[in-house]
Amino acid sequence: MRQAVQHLQASKIRELANAGLGRSDVLAFWFGESDEVTPDFIRQAAIDSLQAGETFYAHNLGLPELRQAISTEMSQRHSLPIHHQRIAVTSGGVNALMLAMQALVDAGDEVLVVTPVWPNLTAQPQILGAHLKTLSLQPAHGRWSLPLEKLLNSITTQTRLLVINSPNNPTGWTLNRQEQQAILAKCRSTGTWILADEVYENLFFLASNNHCAPSFLDIAQADDRLVVAHSFSKSFLMTGWRLGWLVLPPDMTDHIGKLIEFNTSCASVFVQRAGVVALQRAQEVTPRVVEQLRLCRDALAGALGGMSQIEFALPDGGMYLFLRAPQGIDDLQMAKQLVCEVGLGLAPGSAFAPEAQGWLRWCFASKEIDRLRQGAQRLEDWLSKL
Ligand SMILES: Cc1ncc(COP(=O)(O)O)c(C=O)c1O
Repeated sequence: MRQAVQHLQASKIRELANAGLGRSDVLAFWFGESDEVTPDFIRQAAIDSLQAGETFYAHNLGLPELRQAISTEMSQRHSLPIHHQRIAVTSGGVNALMLAMQALVDAGDEVLVVTPVWPNLTAQPQILGAHLKTLSLQPAHGRWSLPLEKLLNSITTQTRLLVINSPNNPTGWTLNRQEQQAILAKCRSTGTWILADEVYENLFFLASNNHCAPSFLDIAQADDRLVVAHSFSKSFLMTGWRLGWLVLPPDMTDHIGKLIEFNTSCASVFVQRAGVVALQRAQEVTPRVVEQLRLCRDALAGALGGMSQIEFALPDGGMYLFLRAPQGIDDLQMAKQLVCEVGLGLAPGSAFAPEAQGWLRWCFASKEIDRLRQGAQRLEDWLSKL
């Protein structure tokens, strides 16, 4: 097998989940998904499509209706026209990201990734044989922030691709407009591509009126070297459906279409039909999801607030609370002990970057806020025995 594949690290989140899977007494907050099923009307659209016999291959870039619905949604979200010819429908956000990397990264190319981050974003360039560089966010009093000058200095003419995820999984850190402008200007000057993972853009707590997080799309030109990855998973409660999309410079779309042909051929038609309905009736889902997440975040933060051994900050966006365990504790070990000893499932921080060793990620997307409070109580019980 290729060295790049042999050296890939297995997911530490999986390692932990495997320790607790099948145990009904475990309150599991380790995976990045809500415990709420996809709304009925979205599921019905998929059922209707299957009943109508839509069981065939479709266009590589997606159903025209879905590309148009995405274009309409993105244009409204960002108050600027985003033409459907810039949209490629993909089989989930993870597939969108991999396609973008396959299109942009050669073996040996330098890819710079801002970390801590969801492990797929560092694994994908490694699979392609890229030379991976990372730039770490800096923690202070539980809050992670971007050392902007350091990042700008790390982007050189050698940097083929900058990968940045905001709102960030796992830290909740979110880029502000000034940071985006500085990064875009620097990447323009070095010829570096930006791959912006904005799958959590709707899940943003700092703006009123359901406004989304600052996006690179707001400030870039259509033909900038910018690719933005999106997903139906989080804001439409559709993790298991595997549906996402890319926003691309117009010249790139047909090339991505070729790659889709050789990867998956197309997203399933009935899944795409569900996607059209999800977007058409987005107002019935996403604002409610965000409001529930806000309640969950605040309830969890309230319950954890009195525990002096841990440190955390309220996340600006996303669905995770990232907390620092007591000094000197190994996070993977602690996560395993939490599962075995008190039935609490959290993801170890070191799954997201070596510098996040000693941290734990708590996915607070739950329809039952009381589950979060019970989980916090279990953590407190465990900490009290230290
Ligand atoms: C930062 C980030 N990007 C992309 C994804 C991909 O989501 P999906 O493949 O379910 O669309 C995830 C999922 O957890 C994520 O956390």
